[in-house]
Amino acid sequence: MTNPLTIGILGAGRVGTAVGRQAIRAGHQVRIATAKPSEEIRLLAEVIVPGASAVDSSQLRGSDLIVIAVPLHKYRSIDTGALAGHVVIDTMNYWAPVDGVMEEFEAGRGTSEVIADFLGDVRLVKTLNHIGYGELEVEAQPAGTPSRRALAIAGDDDDARALVSEFIDSLGFDPVDAGPLSAGRAFQNGTEIFSGRHTSEEMTRLVEQSRQLASTGA
Ligand SMILES: NC(=O)c1ccc[n+]([C@@H]2O[C@H](COP(=O)([O-])OP(=O)(O)OC[C@H]3O[C@@H](n4cnc5c(N)ncnc54)[C@H](OP(=O)(O)O)[C@@H]3O)[C@@H](O)[C@H]2O)c1
Repeated sequence: MTNPLTIGILGAGRVGTAVGRQAIRAGHQVRIATAKPSEEIRLLAEVIVPGASAVDSSQLRGSDLIVIAVPLHKYRSIDTGALAGHVVIDTMNYWAPVDGVMEEFEAGRGTSEVIADFLGDVRLVKTLNHIGYGELEVEAQPAGTPSRRALAIAGDDDDARALVSEFIDSLGFDPVDAGPLSAGRAFQNGTEIFSGRHTSEEMTRLVEQSRQLASTGA
C-alpha cells in the first residue's frame, strides 16, 4: 500500500465516481464535489461512492490531489479558486460531436495545455483520460502482474508527475512518465494510445515514438 492520500474529485459523473470508488479501494480518502451544493450530491455519493464525502467545490482545497472529471465543454465553469496551488489531474477529452466545436481545441495544442493556461496556478497532470470509466475497476491489477495495463502521465512539474504516478500505481495501473504536458498530445482522443490497451513496455514505446515524431516536426 502506498501512502494514503486525500483525493478531491471535481465531477460526480461516470469518471469521477469510478475514480472515487477505486481510490477508496486503494485506501485513499475521497472528497467529491460538483458545481452544486454538497447537500445535492450527498445521497449520490453515499450510494455510488460509498466512503466518500460529498463536499462543496471550495472544500476540495487542501487535497493532496484534485481530479477534474467534468465535461470539457464546461471547463470555463470550473471553480478555479478551489484548485489553485494544487496538483490537479485532467481527465477531460475533447470530442466535438459531444462538446461542440471549440476553436481553442481545434488549433493543434494539446487539450490539457489549453486547460493549464485557463486554470493558471495549478500543477496540471494529464492522465486517466485514456481509459474507459467502466475499465478502471475491472482492469486494475496488482503491481508486478506481467500484463498489467499502463497509463501515461504528462505534466510540466516533476514532483507532480511523481505524486500522480504513485496514485496511478495505487489504483492498479503501471504509470508511464511521458514527460511534459505537451507530451499528452500523444494520448488524447484519436491517438493509438487513446484507443487501445497497453502494457508498460508497449506504452513506453508508443510514447517514445510520439516524442521522436514531435521532435522531427512530423
Ligand atoms: N466516459 C469515459 O469513459 C471517460 C473516460 C476518460 C475520460 N473521460 C472524460 O472525462 C470527462 C467527464 O466525463 P464523464 O463521462 O464522467 O461525464 P458525466 O458523466 O457527464 O459527468 C460530469 C460531471 O461533472 C459535473 N460538472 C459539470 N460541470 C461542472 C463544474 N463546473 N464543476 C464541477 N462539476 C461539474 C456534473 O455535474 P451535474 O450533473 O450537476 O452537471 C457531473 O457530475 C469528460 O471530459 C470525458 O471526455 C470520459
